[in-house]
Amino acid sequence: METVTWFGRAMGVLALLAAAPACAEVVARAESPDGSIAVRVSIDGDGRATYAVTRRGRPVIADSALGFLFTDAAKLDKNLALVDASTTRSDTTWEQPYGEWRTIRDNNVELTVRLRETWRDRREMAVTFRIFDDGVGFRYTLPTGARIAEELTEFALAEDGTAWWKPAYGWNREEYLYQRTPISALGTAQTVATFRLASGTHVAVHEAALVDYAAMNLQRFDGTRLRANLTPGSGAPKVVKTAGFSTPWRTIAIADDAAGLYYAARMTLNLNAPNRLGDVSWIKPGKFVGIWWNMIRGLWTWDAGPRHGATNANVRRYIDFAADNGIPAVLVEGWNIGWETDWARQYFTRPTADFDPRALAAYAKRRGVRLIGHHETGGAASWYNDQLDAAFRFAANHGEQVVKTGYVTDAGQVERVDADGARHREWHEGQWMVNHYARVVETAAKCRVSIDSHEPVKDTGLRRTWPNWVTREGGRGQEYMSWAVKNPPEHEANLVFTQLLGGPMDFTPGLVSLKGSDDSDIPSTLAKQLADFVVIYSPFVMVADTPEAYARYPDALRFIRDVPTDWSDTRVLAGAVGDYAVIARKQRGVDDWFLGAVGDEEARTLAVPLDFLDAGKAYIAQIYRDGPGADYRAPSRHAMTVETRTVRRGDTLTLALAPGGGQAIRFVAPKRRR
Ligand code: NOJ
Ligand code: CA
Repeated sequence: METVTWFGRAMGVLALLAAAPACAEVVARAESPDGSIAVRVSIDGDGRATYAVTRRGRPVIADSALGFLFTDAAKLDKNLALVDASTTRSDTTWEQPYGEWRTIRDNNVELTVRLRETWRDRREMAVTFRIFDDGVGFRYTLPTGARIAEELTEFALAEDGTAWWKPAYGWNREEYLYQRTPISALGTAQTVATFRLASGTHVAVHEAALVDYAAMNLQRFDGTRLRANLTPGSGAPKVVKTAGFSTPWRTIAIADDAAGLYYAARMTLNLNAPNRLGDVSWIKPGKFVGIWWNMIRGLWTWDAGPRHGATNANVRRYIDFAADNGIPAVLVEGWNIGWETDWARQYFTRPTADFDPRALAAYAKRRGVRLIGHHETGGAASWYNDQLDAAFRFAANHGEQVVKTGYVTDAGQVERVDADGARHREWHEGQWMVNHYARVVETAAKCRVSIDSHEPVKDTGLRRTWPNWVTREGGRGQEYMSWAVKNPPEHEANLVFTQLLGGPMDFTPGLVSLKGSDDSDIPSTLAKQLADFVVIYSPFVMVADTPEAYARYPDALRFIRDVPTDWSDTRVLAGAVGDYAVIARKQRGVDDWFLGAVGDEEARTLAVPLDFLDAGKAYIAQIYRDGPGADYRAPSRHAMTVETRTVRRGDTLTLALAPGGGQAIRFVAPKRRR
């Protein structure tokens, strides 16, 4: 539902006498609705156009280049003159079918600047800025097709400071730990990249609506001056467009602190096109368990054999566990033929001999549970593409409303085979794969199936347009807690203010055993495993451990049963990138609130005012906190105190987080009287 209240006020834009690069003239300027964020566009003596962003009068992005390199034409970045500039004002509110907030306000001033070359081809380029009170998005529009070698877009951060980022182009795709370095020591980073300027201002650079284009990375080339670096394809141009087009939006979220960035990142959704699927009431957010962790731990196998995980008996046991605990779905991995070799020749309609899809779907239905399908492509995207229609018909015919996909292969090694038989190797984030992921989501939508992509392209808010693209991996989830190099205690506090600014993550919380492969210890407290359910948003959340493990930790299981995955409101109560995050969320359709707090390797005490609760109501707070001596480095990591208190708005809770710890709270609202 879009409630549009257009102000629609087209105004001529005055050239203001603001600071601009030497010999440059400011040709356009506009401010956000409350005037705090301003964008100005300048053109210098060579006709090079730049943009700059200030917040409350202070530079955040210094004059930064705009333009393109092409493989078959001269570059487009100088000899430019202003054709015209115009602004419009828009203030709308729209409703999310599921999400962190039920409604989202989209309040911005749009500035469109049309530029034209002053000689030779007299080519045109328009740049449209959406200026919000907490950041800026901008995109280019070119009137004709193009073969783009590179974008020349710059993000010249006005001050040095601290950067949180992960490197681009490593073999392990998006699955690198976040580095914390001076901005002036950044390498080539994936987005979302987050910065704290020396003045304290927080900035996150990302993109929105990545459609039919290559994903953008950031390359530092001078001081704190960053430049767009588009992911290559297998051919020479990084992007090929056959007709006039607009690029994805380049986004710059700006806030006083880390918590502010979380709200500012809503611009990612605001800059995406509205829902194209119509009625999406068939998308029902929820938790699931899975034939999964025992494979990740190396106890079971995906392929058929003596240790096969996806057997009829195991799946029935997981269905029973889900049904008994109000968990609506069971993911089954390793149910099909094709895991035996390199994973790249899988058949998505052919079950193994010991997995009976029809009988299990019927059993699940009897128990009020659904199966979640799994398509591991091993990066053989064309091979998968040829099976798409049949694969999603098969899934839908077996009652599957969600399919998890996978593209496990090294970066740059996705297998593409064209209709003429030509073979290519693609990057997961190149234009060809961006289009592949979209095709999978659209094909699935026709069968009313939602997609949880692993080894995906990063999230740029496309769940607004295709609400069935419900979640994804795109970073280091908890599978790493099984393996040799585990996620460090600060990982969640990094994720919340970096990757998760882009959208939901299938993080697989709830490893209550705190044991990975070879009985290795997981560096987390038990309470933190519960907090992750609140802190890390995803409409579909895997309850990742095994039924046997949950039987050993009934207190933890109680919270996991209670916590929902769909919210009407979200508040970031406290946060510092890489240090801690405290988030409260209100359950959708119910007045209960949930709170999750995660820290890093240090013990920490945080005072949290309960201002989010409704005034005048007494809530029962069911608290799951780190117990005496809890510590991620010691067997005491399992120490958890569960207690109940009555609290009201205006009270302040003191959260004591252990090293590697966390806290989870359910605030039960008084039942509404009729
Ligand atoms: C990697 C995924 O992240 C994991 O969840 C999955 O189980 C394996 N690939 C197998 O597809
Ligand atoms: Ca993965």
